[in-house]
Amino acid sequence: MRSLISILDLSVEEIDQLVATGLDIIENPEKYAHKCEGKKLATLFFEPSTRTRLSFEAAMYELGGHVIGFSDAGSSSASKGESVADTVRVVSNYADIIAMRHPKEGAPLVASMKSTVPIINAGDGGHNHPTQTLADLLTIKREKGTFDNLTVGFCGDLKFGRTVHSLIDALTRYTGVKIVLISPDELKLPSYMKNALDKMDSISYVETTSLEDAMPSLDILYMTRVQKERFFNEADYIRLKDSYILTPEKLESAKSDMCILHPLPRVNEISVAVDDDPRACYFKQVFNGKIIRMALIMKLLGIN
Ligand code: CP
Repeated sequence: MRSLISILDLSVEEIDQLVATGLDIIENPEKYAHKCEGKKLATLFFEPSTRTRLSFEAAMYELGGHVIGFSDAGSSSASKGESVADTVRVVSNYADIIAMRHPKEGAPLVASMKSTVPIINAGDGGHNHPTQTLADLLTIKREKGTFDNLTVGFCGDLKFGRTVHSLIDALTRYTGVKIVLISPDELKLPSYMKNALDKMDSISYVETTSLEDAMPSLDILYMTRVQKERFFNEADYIRLKDSYILTPEKLESAKSDMCILHPLPRVNEISVAVDDDPRACYFKQVFNGKIIRMALIMKLLGIN
């Protein structure tokens, strides 16, 4: 039985296979309409979500399966003090696969040790979000055709942004990737991640506070929201929340084929005036997220 807790749980070959399945689902959706008949997905969301939970649910329905779950810890017995370990031992009796989001880093890993069905980490605190990374990778494949030799700028909250951490982990597997880390000093990529990158020959990175300086070199610009829910101090959030706002004017120095990604939700960091720019790919990411979650559910259930 396989769970997906970190994107590094998947080999490069497995990621390539998931992306290939995703591309086939887009071309031939009817082939997949009955793949999960008789199977149930449980979505256990202890933290708010729009895209991840609903795309998992839509994915399972489009595979012919069923969905149970909760979208709010307050409506589950967690509110009475039940542990994550006990919750998944119980839900393993009701579902064939579980997607879990939790505010505590490591909660899905704990769940995977107690569950008798596969656990998918749908976001754990400020740590990882591997299925968002699969959505990002499918989008990059469709837009750029490759994961190699790309210069990728990550802009905003690189400290708490779990989607950033997981996508950087994934990109370390490919050749010739250059990473540009664009953030205020207070929201830099955690040291444990930079220390790991320092030990790798396959990938290089630079840090800057200037989006304008970085812009001309980028093949991909990955914008992120400042993660209000992870701050201890509201004054710090208010001071940092508008550190970077992408506008059409700032894009004037960007490559004509640069791809703008954002895991969403967006607050203020991309002006809506950018949405009509052909380089804006963040709503394509949303569609690709549902597709790649279909491919992932099938893989973890052992369905070809
Ligand atoms: N990208 C993402 O995880 O969005 P949600 O928080 O809406 O699921």
